[in-house]
Parts: sequence; C-alpha cells; structure tokens
Amino acid sequence: MKERDQLMADKANMAGGTDGADAGSGSSKKNIVDVKLGRDVRIGDFVNLYGCEIGDESMVGPFVEIQRGAVIGRRCKIQSHSFICTGVSLGDDVFIGHGVVFSNDKHPRSSKDGKLIRSQDDWTLLETKVGEGASIGNNATILPGIEIGAGAVIGAGAVVVKSVPPGKTVLGPAMRFK
Ligand SMILES: CC(C)(COP(=O)(O)OP(=O)(O)OC[C@H]1O[C@@H](n2cnc3c(N)ncnc32)[C@H](O)[C@@H]1OP(=O)(O)O)[C@@H](O)C(=O)NCCC(=O)NCCS
Repeated sequence: MKERDQLMADKANMAGGTDGADAGSGSSKKNIVDVKLGRDVRIGDFVNLYGCEIGDESMVGPFVEIQRGAVIGRRCKIQSHSFICTGVSLGDDVFIGHGVVFSNDKHPRSSKDGKLIRSQDDWTLLETKVGEGASIGNNATILPGIEIGAGAVIGAGAVVVKSVPPGKTVLGPAMRFK
C-alpha cells in the first residue's frame, strides 16, 4: 500500500478501531464497563470507558478515556488520546480532535486536612456542555463549567477559559475571538 493510502487507512482506523471491531467485542484491549452504547458505535483499542453513554454511530479512537456520567451524542467522532470526564456532555455530530482534555474541577487539590481527596464531597464538579456540530481541534484544553455553542470551532491548542457562543471560532492559548 502506498504511504499516503496507508496514512488515510490509519486515520480511519484511529477513529474507529483497527479491525472494524465493535464495542463490546470482548477484546481484552478495550476496557468498557457499564457503558450504555447506541447502535453501530465503533471503538478503538486501549480505551477506558466506564459508566458513560455513547450515542448511535459514534466513533471513539484508541487511548481515549470517557468517565462515569459523561454523555456522547450521536455521530460524534472522538480522536485518539482524548479525555472526557464526568460532567461533560456532547451533543450530536461533535468532533473531538486528538488529545483534547476536558476538566471538571476548577481548583483541583490532591489532599485536604492531610488526607487524600477521594470523595466528590470534597470538591465541586462543574459541568461542561458542547453543542451539536461543534468541532474541537487537537490538544485543546477545556476548562470546567464551559458551554461551547452549536457549530462552534475551537482551534488546535486553544485553552478554552470561557463559554463560546454558537458558530464562533476561537483560537490560541489565551483564547480570543476570531
Ligand atoms: C482554527 C482553524 C479552524 C482556523 O482555520 P482557518 O480559518 O483556515 O484559519 P487560517 O489558517 O486562515 O488562519 C487565520 C489566522 O489564525 C491563526 N491560527 C489558525 N489556527 C490557529 C490555532 N489553532 N491557534 C492559534 N492561531 C491560529 C493563523 O496563524 C492566522 O493568523 P494571522 O491572521 O495572524 O496570520 C484551524 O487553524 C484549526 O486550528 N483547526 C483544527 C485542526 C485540528 O486540530 N484538526 C483535528 C483533526 S487532524
């Protein structure tokens, strides 16, 4: 196979598993526990998905973690190495690039009063919503408690520190409106 063809094939595989394996195929390379899966969801290897919901026809690339309570809409594409935490919900048709990191704790701490924080009572979970058809570029970091409007575009590498209105494009580590 020519180099470019191989590249295209790899890219397609990254978004949906290398062997067309569907979710719940029993592959030991996927950790999928207590996940509500829609129809025709495709999932790459080495994922860690637990307690979340993934809508029909969505694709999840390898090395993705999706935590308990997160909701992924229909026909979403989540590229490799992204992290979608508790409190995040994606509408339908959302694109998440490689290495996108969501967050849910604005002021994270490791311990409190000399004890490791383990319970959700010791921190405040802030929710994040991504509207339908939005696209988030590679390596973007999304701060907690953010709303990204429908059809908005987040440039690669952006740090999203406040909500983005529908249809807007935002760029840069010190996020500005384009
Ligand atoms: C944000 C984005 C959609 C803008 O695309 P565009 O409208 O074609 O923008 P242009 O390339 O014309 O660039 C316009 C300006 O924005 C700047 N810019 C573009 N993308 C940027 C980014 N991610 N961060 C910071 N600045 C960016 C350009 O340097 C240029 O600046 P200038 O006007 O000062 O010269 C695109 O650059 C991007 O980041 N796409 C995401 C790619 C990605 O992660 N894909 C994932 C799958 S592989």
